[in-house]
Amino acid sequence: MSLADFLSSLQSLQDEASEAFAKVSSQQSLEDARVRFLGAKNGALRQIQKQLGKLDKDEKPQAGQKLNEVKRSLSAGLERATEALADAQSATTGPPADPTLPGEPLRLGHIHPITQTMDHLKEIMGRMGFETAEGPEVEDPWHNFVALNIPEDHPARDPLDNFYLATADAVAGEADSQLMRSQTSTVQIRVMENRQPPIRIVSLGRVYRPDAPDATHFPMFHQMEGLMVDRQVTMANLKTVLRVFANNYLGSDVQIRFRPSFFPFTEPSVEVDFLWNDQWIEFGGAGMVDPAVLSAVGYDPETVSGFAFGLGVERLCMRRHNITDIRDLYSGDMRFLSQF
Ligand code: DAH
Repeated sequence: MSLADFLSSLQSLQDEASEAFAKVSSQQSLEDARVRFLGAKNGALRQIQKQLGKLDKDEKPQAGQKLNEVKRSLSAGLERATEALADAQSATTGPPADPTLPGEPLRLGHIHPITQTMDHLKEIMGRMGFETAEGPEVEDPWHNFVALNIPEDHPARDPLDNFYLATADAVAGEADSQLMRSQTSTVQIRVMENRQPPIRIVSLGRVYRPDAPDATHFPMFHQMEGLMVDRQVTMANLKTVLRVFANNYLGSDVQIRFRPSFFPFTEPSVEVDFLWNDQWIEFGGAGMVDPAVLSAVGYDPETVSGFAFGLGVERLCMRRHNITDIRDLYSGDMRFLSQF
């Protein structure tokens, strides 16, 4: 390589570099330009520097001087580009943040009133020795109906009163099609199928029924199911447990009434009412587990007996907090929800 070639390649490098630095518009393009021209290993300047050794001895001083000049100029160009980029960025983002300013208050989330209620109910029942059990929300007809002594022609199985699921191999509403559970009594069956007495459980969770929403109805709501099975469990045990529960959750002055009723899975059956603003309001059902249900899960009704109950969680929560419209619980309105 001749000295002239060496010098002219330095010159064109300098021209190229100053053009590239002028075009820098982002951190990435700045870094790309730095590596391309000033990279210590493979940068363009470094490549030319490697040719220095091939020049004649007496050409080297001049070549070296020019090399240093271009190097300084490139470094200065890089510095200017860096500053220009920083200026451009602060022009679009405004002045730097002031760390001494007070922060924006964070809005803290909190637990939904129904979840709070369920936690509270579990805690009260836990103190009476009832552990918590869970079951799926998508159920089969066996657990939602058949094992609970609800025969195929029972009105409770009407497709208009249930959310049946149309799946690949089932038509909605047919005898074998799955559904969103309409009651937590399903969990009674699941627990008894898997365990032997003595049993004392509650199960709290969502249930689904195609009801038009109004002040007291919503197509999804929650129930607390209770089940106790052992030798010699009686209706007196049931009434005591529900009384103690109600006194704990609704206050020692709560009035409770058991009204004769009918459920396919209990015999005898009662409906459970609480006095609320001088009116008896139904909160759920209860009774002694029907021997047919005990047999369906393989228990011997001659040796064990049990009681069961199912209470509406929303209604309990509404009575305790004086909420008059169930829809308020599910409107997602923070003005309502933030009160709990
Ligand atoms: N599953 C009933 C319903 O949703 C409520 C119920 C009644 C549950 C009696 C029970 C019971 O465990 O024994 O209407």
